[in-house]
Amino acid sequence: MLLWIFQDAIELFVGLSMDKMVVTGGGPLRGTVKASGAKNAALPILFSTLLAEGQHIFRNVPKLKDIESTAELLQSLGCETSWDGDLFKVNVSALQSYEASYDLVRKMRASFLCMGPMLAKYGEAVVSQPGGCAIGSRPIDLHLEGFKALGAEITQREGYVHAATKKLQGGTFLFETVTVGGTENVMMAATLAEGITVLENAAKEPEIVDLAEYLIKMGAKISGHGTSVIRIEGVRKLFPAEHTIMADRIEAGTLLIAGAITKGQVTVTNCIPSHLEALIIKLRESGFKIETTSDTMTVFPTEKWEAVDITTAPHPLFPTDLQAQFMALMAVAHGTSVISETVFENRFMHVTELCRLGADITPKTRVAVVRGVPGQLTGAPVMATDLRASASLVLAGLVASGETVVNRIYHLDRGYEKLEDKLSSLGAKIRRS
Ligand code: EPZ
Repeated sequence: MLLWIFQDAIELFVGLSMDKMVVTGGGPLRGTVKASGAKNAALPILFSTLLAEGQHIFRNVPKLKDIESTAELLQSLGCETSWDGDLFKVNVSALQSYEASYDLVRKMRASFLCMGPMLAKYGEAVVSQPGGCAIGSRPIDLHLEGFKALGAEITQREGYVHAATKKLQGGTFLFETVTVGGTENVMMAATLAEGITVLENAAKEPEIVDLAEYLIKMGAKISGHGTSVIRIEGVRKLFPAEHTIMADRIEAGTLLIAGAITKGQVTVTNCIPSHLEALIIKLRESGFKIETTSDTMTVFPTEKWEAVDITTAPHPLFPTDLQAQFMALMAVAHGTSVISETVFENRFMHVTELCRLGADITPKTRVAVVRGVPGQLTGAPVMATDLRASASLVLAGLVASGETVVNRIYHLDRGYEKLEDKLSSLGAKIRRS
């Protein structure tokens, strides 16, 4: 016990002491960089292992804080997780607990994705309500309505959601709002329900497709994934399988914008350009030359680019997870860009920090007016508030003159694998401190 306290203290000290990223504005980035596996595909897929006892094997799982948190939660339920070289293995046996504690869920909201699989496999799940975060209230009401549509009894008390069922029954459920997590949670639950489930107004994100593909490898019967109507025919049992996690489209898009904003030439490999059509269209509209192959994207040096408007929305429209990064690019564009955030109610936390670097941005409710100030950003200490905001500040730091110190960089580590190494390999002056 004493050893744990000592280890925690060391982790806390190291974490806090290495809590900054120092970026020095410099010249164009040049070279080739590989995208990692997708965090937002890996998380639901790792939770889906709860549907099938035995050993699941995964490739291309990114080494991120959120993956560590997921492993911790799976272990708390009685699973074993391990790295074997580049393979990530999850061994599921009869669970010792059906409870996901507040302490674990508060670290990562996506932990709530363990509810659907546990409910379907074991008929019971007790999961702490995830609560909100910096970018919004992040409700789970549609997850719960979806479980009820499959016959689950849901009660909420003392900050926990209790779900129980003798056996889930297939049903039809219309999501009144497109929700990625809600679609994932209810789709996982429906794989072991009795009968047919039809999910309408389902999310169409590529991560949903990757999850469905893994569920099908486990023996699930799913069709329509990637469209707004997903049909699941319940089966009696699922079996562990193997899977390679899809490439992270948000990281790939972030790396492409790093090349664009520095007037460089950057090729991102191991990515899926067809997942980023909305971003590529907007970059071309702004004046960038973008070339793609089946698994690479290249941005070419561009001296000046025009401000363009974007509106975030569910896939295949402009991803909310690239809004902050694109705003950094527009902060040094020629002209004025209007950025509308329709997915989350509070996803402009990066605006005040970008303004500390000299950006000229006026945030309104869900809309920000960005008046480009090309070549005028200057380095300063700034504060990361959430995962994608921290990426936005790093991108701005690449072109701000002087030194930008991004504080609370632990936000970045939740979703980007060795970003400073990847950017340094392209010529960026960036280091942890
Ligand atoms: C997923 O979050 C992603 N996270 C988010 O990425 C991403 O921004 C988001 O989808 C949208 O694409 C993971 O996949 C782990 P939602 P999720 O449910 O599932 C409302 C990142 O940076 N809603 O699609 O939580 C909700 O308030 C993260 O990697 C309800 O009203 O998002 C929001 O306005 C940030 N009721 C909208 O739907 C519900 O029950 C979209 O949320 C559920 C959601």
